[in-house]
Amino acid sequence: MTDLVIKQKDIIERILTLELVRVTERAAVAAARLRGRGDEKAADQAAVDAMRRELNRLPIDGTVVIGEGERDEAPMLFIGERVGTTTGPKVDIAVDPLEGTTLCAKDLPGSIAVMAMAPAGSLLNAPDVYMDKIAIGPGYAKGTIDLDMSPEENLLSLAKAKGVKPSEITALILERPRHQNLVDACRKVGASIRFITDGDVAGVIFTAQSELTGVDIYFGTGGAPEGVLAAGALRCVGGQMQGRLILDTEEKRERALKMGIKDPKKKYDMTELASGDVIVCATGVTTGPLLKGVKFGREIIETETVIYRSVTGTVRRIHGEHRQMDKFRLD
Ligand code: FBP
Repeated sequence: MTDLVIKQKDIIERILTLELVRVTERAAVAAARLRGRGDEKAADQAAVDAMRRELNRLPIDGTVVIGEGERDEAPMLFIGERVGTTTGPKVDIAVDPLEGTTLCAKDLPGSIAVMAMAPAGSLLNAPDVYMDKIAIGPGYAKGTIDLDMSPEENLLSLAKAKGVKPSEITALILERPRHQNLVDACRKVGASIRFITDGDVAGVIFTAQSELTGVDIYFGTGGAPEGVLAAGALRCVGGQMQGRLILDTEEKRERALKMGIKDPKKKYDMTELASGDVIVCATGVTTGPLLKGVKFGREIIETETVIYRSVTGTVRRIHGEHRQMDKFRLD
């Protein structure tokens, strides 16, 4: 009997899963109107406004733990901001209303609107700093990769676990001068590299579908907010990920301490970055390997959204056809 009856709490969470689609859809459409205009700030702001407005309609008592910055530097969706009608369940919210601002401003593939929601206290409350990250897909023994191993060791260990030569491994790396050591390591062991210019949330997710994407490992330094969002998604589809905040100044360590981070060198496992029943939702802004971008027709707007839910491992793709186009107006 109990197995057949959906509990009240579950109903709320199940409904909320689909409600998040509206949130990222609105943010994506708002940003997509500014694709290719060369104005990163305007596109980001449009996505932030739309996402915030939609979040505030949700029946949740939400707190932004990963947001647009800290209270003094971000007027909206700042870390600590309460969102939702405040009448529903207490939840943590992580947002990146426009992941890949440069991609959107240049109308290049891969920008998305993305957010995560989990029961209060489940998502790492981290300042907007860099994070060292490493991730692989499912099916490998725990410990196959580790942030404390050298890049070469990680590549060789992964190749061994996969049962292939290192030259058959492909690493995904953000193209930045700071990643020269990773590039050198790949060259040394003969692994190939796929560079991305931005967008490492999707970069981490690609490791979970290596037959499709050809990506075996993601490593490098990117944004901490993106790290938490990516960890949430990877938890749903399986894989391994670790992250370590880069708190290399006293000022950053103090900011982190204020958020409860006592050990500035802590290595976080995927489940510590995003624990509990996490829902991650992303809508494409510009078409990329993960999602199609927003399509503006004469009478409909089309969107593509993916939603991951960790408790069931369900991944849903939702193609939206929006006929009430004025609902997407920015005013
Ligand atoms: P934005 O959308 O904030 O521009 O982030 C894009 C991104 O590429 C992230 O995916 C990545 O984590 C981060 O920037 C890397 O930071 P940086 O561009 O400073 O190297």
